Amino acid sequence: MAETFAVKLEEKSYLPDPRCKATAWTPDYTRAYQEFVRDPEAFWDRIARELVWFKPWDRVREWNYPYAKWFVNAHLNITYNCLDRHVAGDRKDKPAIVWRGEQGEERVLSYDGLYREVMRFANSLASLGVGKGDRVCIYMPLVPEQVIAMLACARIGAVHSVVFGGFGPDALAMRINDAEAKVLITADAGYRRGKAIPLLGIAREALTHAPCVERVVVLRRETPAVDLDPAREVDYGDLMVHAAPECPAETMDAEDPLFILYTSGSTGAPKGIVHTCGGYMVGTYYTTRHVFDIKENDVYWCTADTGWITGHSYIVYGPLAVGTTVVLVEGTPDYPDPGAYWQLIRDLGVTIFYTAPTAIRMFMRYGDGWPAKYDLSTLRVLGSVGEPLNPEAFEWYYRAIGGGRCPIVDTWWQTETGMQMVTTMIGEAMKPGFAGKPIPGAVVDVVDRAGNPVPPGTGGFLVIKEPWPAMLRTVHGNDERYRAYWNTIPGCYTAGDLAVKDQDGYIMVIGRADDLIVVSGHNIGTAEVESALVSHDAVAEAAVIGKPDPLKGNVIKAFVTLRMGADPGDGLSDELARHVRKSLGPVAVPAEIEYMDRLPKTRSGKIMRRVLKARELGMDPGDISTLEE
Ligand code: WTA
Repeated sequence: MAETFAVKLEEKSYLPDPRCKATAWTPDYTRAYQEFVRDPEAFWDRIARELVWFKPWDRVREWNYPYAKWFVNAHLNITYNCLDRHVAGDRKDKPAIVWRGEQGEERVLSYDGLYREVMRFANSLASLGVGKGDRVCIYMPLVPEQVIAMLACARIGAVHSVVFGGFGPDALAMRINDAEAKVLITADAGYRRGKAIPLLGIAREALTHAPCVERVVVLRRETPAVDLDPAREVDYGDLMVHAAPECPAETMDAEDPLFILYTSGSTGAPKGIVHTCGGYMVGTYYTTRHVFDIKENDVYWCTADTGWITGHSYIVYGPLAVGTTVVLVEGTPDYPDPGAYWQLIRDLGVTIFYTAPTAIRMFMRYGDGWPAKYDLSTLRVLGSVGEPLNPEAFEWYYRAIGGGRCPIVDTWWQTETGMQMVTTMIGEAMKPGFAGKPIPGAVVDVVDRAGNPVPPGTGGFLVIKEPWPAMLRTVHGNDERYRAYWNTIPGCYTAGDLAVKDQDGYIMVIGRADDLIVVSGHNIGTAEVESALVSHDAVAEAAVIGKPDPLKGNVIKAFVTLRMGADPGDGLSDELARHVRKSLGPVAVPAEIEYMDRLPKTRSGKIMRRVLKARELGMDPGDISTLEE
């Protein structure tokens, strides 16, 4: 990791309409933050009491560095709070999910409708022998059944591991094996830009290397329906027809695992981040309500894929726990045309819109004309997540989409944090380029390597200093990797991001400090891409770096040395790109490949990616004393 460094800060701020503040769930940030600091346990206790528990906690928090327990000995089921609570109250007929498929399909599931589907599918899973603690892998497109599958697992206490539908067979197999999933839930196809992506075919290929999977549930969307292998595969619809309608929610301990979600590691295999039931529920419920300031009549749309943490926390669990109407859209932002999203906002009356900087920058390129065609006046709050929202993109989002009227919440958080940690709470002054301050409930700072806070204007490491309810509890099957988060900087959880604060305590996130590359908001580990490249016959060694890109945030650039006799001519680069795509999926394909005679290495033989990166960006490579020669 780099040492601290100076950053020049631009000062510009926007004050939202004072009415936003007056009616917000957190009307006074400073007061709320002070209240939290005065007594963190009382703060979280109060929030947790807004939800339904089968048995209350003995203690709010138990902190045994670096292990935390939240809502100790409490019993609950998150789906009871996402479904039963609303159905029993006055949200029975309220739309829970409004879905638009890529082929123009429309579906609305009320809270009662979703509740019934979840219970039936929970019984379906139970009929396949899935029980509490079993792992279930979900590899699906963005359809309501994906949400139903997640909730059905949670209903019976099974641990879901959702794998993004854009991943290829090797990435899928690795995640299935690591989690030792017993059942895989998939679909015959997902659709993207009018084309079918053969998920079942990819899943079948993955399963040739993943013997732990006993049964495969297939949602069939294509006509004519694909044939299933009766020995192992079963149709989603058939299961549902035969399943019993009622399924009481399993009693879960607050610290029982809810799900595993893989995130790219800086070295080696992806890490299975483990989240638990109680704290995760409280953290996502609270942030969804307070950060987006959700009110009863809001129509909320988060454009993420459910396969990422953003989808888990802010499509599924948080919004449903709050009881809002969630818009779910399969497809790409600029298909069939660059006005597709704006048209949907108008048609569905979306009031809260949460998307990624890469999408905002893409829309910015298409120009103001597209959003201007649609009446976007229902919008009330805009959100951003996944990478830094650069000032130009902020300004455009604020003006062209928000009409200069909507506060923007640029939310910094991670798969590991489970919930949003830094943002500018509604009503506070917004500074383009800065995510904002720690939310009430989070203690986040920018420090040097020794853990001392750095002065304003000096870059350092972004850390979290106190446990928080939705924090990861471990890395599945590898607790040492969990401890590494807390061992790097004394007393702190190290996020792996570089950041800087201004004199008001606003945090600007600069980017990753380690070997992760964030491409269009997707986290890609250098190690996975490198090993995919090296698995090709022509490649001897490979090193990949992230290269800043005006649209995608970063693109992947690969440096490759070839084996004897291999020739970079003959379309080798295309061939390597296809090879990576086939193995890991389109998100991991290098945009550029450069052939080298040898790669810069340390004397101990570690590839020095930062030297390659510095050369690529025309920067000073820093300390190269460990370089081989
Ligand atoms: C980056 C996504 C700047 C960051 C929720 C983090 C951000 C990584 C922001 C986590 C933001 C996320 N500003 N950078 N608002 N939000 N990041 O696990 O580098 O997919 O460490 O979680 O995305 O990515 P992950």
